[in-house]
Amino acid sequence: KKKIIIDTDPGIDDAMAIFVALQSPEVEVIGLTTIYGNVYTTLATRNALHLLEFAERSDIPVAEGSHVTFTKGTKLRVADFVHGSDGLGNQNFSPPKGKPIDQSGPAFLVEQANLHPGKITVVALGPLTNIALAIELDPAFAQKIGQIVILGGAFSVNGNVNPAAEANIFGDPDAADIVFTSGADVVAVGLNVTHQVVFSVADRDKLAQSKGKYAQYLCKILALYFSYHHDAYEMQGVYLHDPTAILAAVNPSLLTYTEGVVRVQTSGITRGMTIFDNTKKRYAEITEWSNKPTVKVAVTVDASAVLELVMDRLINS
Ligand code: BDR
Ligand code: CA
Repeated sequence: KKKIIIDTDPGIDDAMAIFVALQSPEVEVIGLTTIYGNVYTTLATRNALHLLEFAERSDIPVAEGSHVTFTKGTKLRVADFVHGSDGLGNQNFSPPKGKPIDQSGPAFLVEQANLHPGKITVVALGPLTNIALAIELDPAFAQKIGQIVILGGAFSVNGNVNPAAEANIFGDPDAADIVFTSGADVVAVGLNVTHQVVFSVADRDKLAQSKGKYAQYLCKILALYFSYHHDAYEMQGVYLHDPTAILAAVNPSLLTYTEGVVRVQTSGITRGMTIFDNTKKRYAEITEWSNKPTVKVAVTVDASAVLELVMDRLINS
């Protein structure tokens, strides 16, 4: 079984992704690390604990991650208008009973990579601060981690926080640039693919009719996510960003990939933009691009297979 650690900012689609992961026999979730993004880190930790308690999986440790960006001082942007002020669709769930472990998110990542070298996949569903801090803590982390699957980036398409940037990369572009150029086995799943994975009203109705506990829970929290997509994008459905990244770890063949250097714009009007060098020549004379390690970037997705698998995992619970 593939061991995975989910780095997350729950988050409605994060909640769905976590449940899909827990219901996927191909992977073993060995921990959650938390990060600001959809909400501040303290609330992300609370939500992570709550989701595991709901799933009766409090045996899985939660390690609280960074409260600030890698380069300290950047103002945080939270997406309460997408996910609710509680991050989970304004449902007023009671507080979790459990506590995070006595170890920071980055320290937990480093420890697990050392315990199981080459064997751990980190699925990063929020800004990449914790991963960049893990690389800073242990310069060999990039080599010791098996793979890092990132929900992030907008490759040759518009972003969702500015015309160039996707939210998770925009949240900490300095951290993202460190991770993309770290030499780790990185797979980026960006908006160019997740915008094809649209969970429809009919899908929601199917979920609602099922008696499964995850299905019932998600129908409640999804209401706000549907109304945001309706207002912001005039859509009748919602994008399944984070569940697609989880399924890229569960079954990589659901997507196709291309390989090249990715760098991140860290300032200015295109802050958070992910730039992919598809030329293969790697601009040998330009040091910012030459000799940088390559990453895999998802270019196509079998959206109906992803949607079917999400449904299968959530209904049969
Ligand atoms: C990403 O940003 C967050 O709002 C979602 O949870 C997802 O991880 C999409 O840009
Ligand atoms: Ca997320």
